[in-house]
Amino acid sequence: MRLAVACAVLFSCATSVVAQGFTTLKGHGGPIMGVDVGPDGLIATASFDNSVGLWKDGEPTWLEGHDAAVVAVTFGPTGALVSGGDDFTVRLWGEVPRVLGRHLGKVATVAISPDGRVAASGSWDGTIHLWPLDGSAGQALPVPGSGVNSVAFDPIGRFLFAGTSKGALLRYDLWDPGATPYPMIQHGFGVNQLIAGDGWVAYGAVDGGTRVIDANTGAPIADFTLDRRPILAMDYHPDTGQIAVGDGHGYIMMVDADKWRITRDFRATRRGPVWALAFSNDGSVIHAGGLDDAVYSWPVALLGTFDPAIDGERAFLRDPETMPNGERQFTRKCAICHALEAGPSRKAGPTLHALFGRRAGTVPDYPYSQTLDGSDIIWSEETVDALFDEGPDHYIPGSKMPMQVISGADDRADLIAYLKQATMGD
Ligand code: HEC
Repeated sequence: MRLAVACAVLFSCATSVVAQGFTTLKGHGGPIMGVDVGPDGLIATASFDNSVGLWKDGEPTWLEGHDAAVVAVTFGPTGALVSGGDDFTVRLWGEVPRVLGRHLGKVATVAISPDGRVAASGSWDGTIHLWPLDGSAGQALPVPGSGVNSVAFDPIGRFLFAGTSKGALLRYDLWDPGATPYPMIQHGFGVNQLIAGDGWVAYGAVDGGTRVIDANTGAPIADFTLDRRPILAMDYHPDTGQIAVGDGHGYIMMVDADKWRITRDFRATRRGPVWALAFSNDGSVIHAGGLDDAVYSWPVALLGTFDPAIDGERAFLRDPETMPNGERQFTRKCAICHALEAGPSRKAGPTLHALFGRRAGTVPDYPYSQTLDGSDIIWSEETVDALFDEGPDHYIPGSKMPMQVISGADDRADLIAYLKQATMGD
């Protein structure tokens, strides 16, 4: 109490922030698979010890009922608490706890709609269900085609996104709940985690990918893939525009969702993966769980800012404002879809390695459109200039490359000068 008063008077609270900052919630008898923070600041934890922990001021209440490990917990906007687990059940906690629904396999993910009325659950049995919290009958959505790892509502509650073990990212329209889901992405590896913001969806995958796509079109927005797989946990704090991403190597990466940049990256656990992440309500603290039977909480402001050097030269980790113009043009307008190195790439477009002097449509194994396959264009300063002066839709009509024009002749010249040097490599 004294400290708090002194702190307010002196307006320098550094010591007490540090003292209070790195807190630990200890008490569970097994690893922590899920964590969430409620509207009133309560923290809920899901553990291998079959219980849900409900923490107030660091003290737990144990919510018992699951007959096996609890793997997912979530609070709704009005404080309703729902969990799912290896006992195949979805449970609603409160004065009279009850089973909201049952699956035929592990319940891997639960989410509550923005209006607080419905819980969605996804299971390894390959189904997604909606369960009204008022106890009325649940409803199954059209089957997603394989086990479900993650579900997330969009901010207005119209769409439910689902990530599956066979690499699909599906969008269900809840205003038309019988309709076939729209396939946004299909990978050859599982999609583990999803978060949905205003007009975008970010997902974390088994290949270590953290990617952001347009929630309507599926078009790529940003890619924050580091060399750490798999991605296992994500959380989003809309007011501060922060995304936290936890991976199998025990790191937590922070992404600025307004500028689409990595801001911080730190080793959160000495051993094992990060399975659970949740921001505090003001976004100033990140809570994380993993193999240890404790939740660790860090003040975000005290975590080291991200040093790109530790992950090599990756243009997307640098601030485009500080780059020479040609590189900035590439980073902003091309890097999402094109690599510059030789060899296979997972990006949507072919690598631009050794571009100049090369015939269009000739990167081995890249599935070109018919327009480029067999085209007689040779890429040169002149043809690349024309491509973005006129736009791909005019210069190579029928191509898969999206429409875009770079109207400034200087910007095109700087981009080409940068590409000439950056595409040479070995
Ligand atoms: C949203 C993804 C996307 C963006 C952004 C994009 N491209 Fe492409 N690009 C593609 C795709 C896909 C193809 C293959 C087109 C086809 O097969 O018709 C392609 C093809 C090309 C080709 C022909 C390559 C070849 O092997 O023949 C060049 C050159 C090219 N892009 C340059 C650029 C440059 C420079 C930029 C930035 C100003 C850019 N692209 C931005 C997706 C993109």
